[in-house]
Amino acid sequence: MSFEARLGAWLADLERRHLADLRFAEVSRALRALSATYVERRERIGEGAALSGAGKRAAFALFYAPLHAMLVHHIAREQVDRQTGGTLVDLGCGTGVAGAAWASVAAAPIEVVGVDRHPWAIEEARATYRTFGVRARTRVEDLTRTVLPQHSHVLAAFAINELTVASRQAMLPRLLEHAAKGGRVTLVEPLAGFVAPWWHEWRSAAEAMGGRADEWRIRVPLPPIVAKLDKAAGLNHREITGRSLTFGM
Ligand SMILES: C[S@@+](CC[C@H](N)C(=O)[O-])C[C@H]1O[C@@H](n2cnc3c(N)ncnc32)[C@H](O)[C@@H]1O
Repeated sequence: MSFEARLGAWLADLERRHLADLRFAEVSRALRALSATYVERRERIGEGAALSGAGKRAAFALFYAPLHAMLVHHIAREQVDRQTGGTLVDLGCGTGVAGAAWASVAAAPIEVVGVDRHPWAIEEARATYRTFGVRARTRVEDLTRTVLPQHSHVLAAFAINELTVASRQAMLPRLLEHAAKGGRVTLVEPLAGFVAPWWHEWRSAAEAMGGRADEWRIRVPLPPIVAKLDKAAGLNHREITGRSLTFGM
């Protein structure tokens, strides 16, 4: 089954589950609140404000997660020359889309290890991996404590920006060391500079060890529920954007 077909099946399941107890208008209202948390109330993300409440969780699962899935799928396809099998550790996996999207492209079989501090996210990630047919294990854990298996590919999509300054500063040397010892690291974050003011420093460190930095603007048709929420919440995603760093093997 193609990635697009799996994405469609996965979204149909999400719609059925999340719109069973919530009306569409409630989800689009929650999406506006969630977007404001990501943009204007970033200091509250560390307290778990982004995924507090059924409305925001539904909005994340039905809107942001599929956008992340499509972007990461695109990045994985562009970097297919560097694909290897083995273990993919998806740090801050949320509903599991980044690991599932990457595994859908991999040339050799991959086992995904999804790590998130949020039990709801991990429940959703399990369902996502099943729908995408991905072999996976999951752990409710603080990603800053996750042991990174040697030679694994560590993926962190839209997660590092949610760490405290101290945790983030401690992660950079760990990730660089992981890459230096034969692992691989892929980080994906929004293009907006205010979300990741630390990007420049991380980019320099990644490039110093031969890594690559990319910016992405992709135009793809949005799945119907994503387009409907985009319009209802007045967000107007004409393209999906992001930036990535890849370093290591
Ligand atoms: C914006 S979501 C991105 C989820 C997913 N990677 C994606 O691309 O859709 C950020 C995720 O990081 C998780 N997260 C933030 N800080 C974390 C930490 N210290 N340890 C584990 N997970 C964390 C949140 O619970 C949330 O699920």
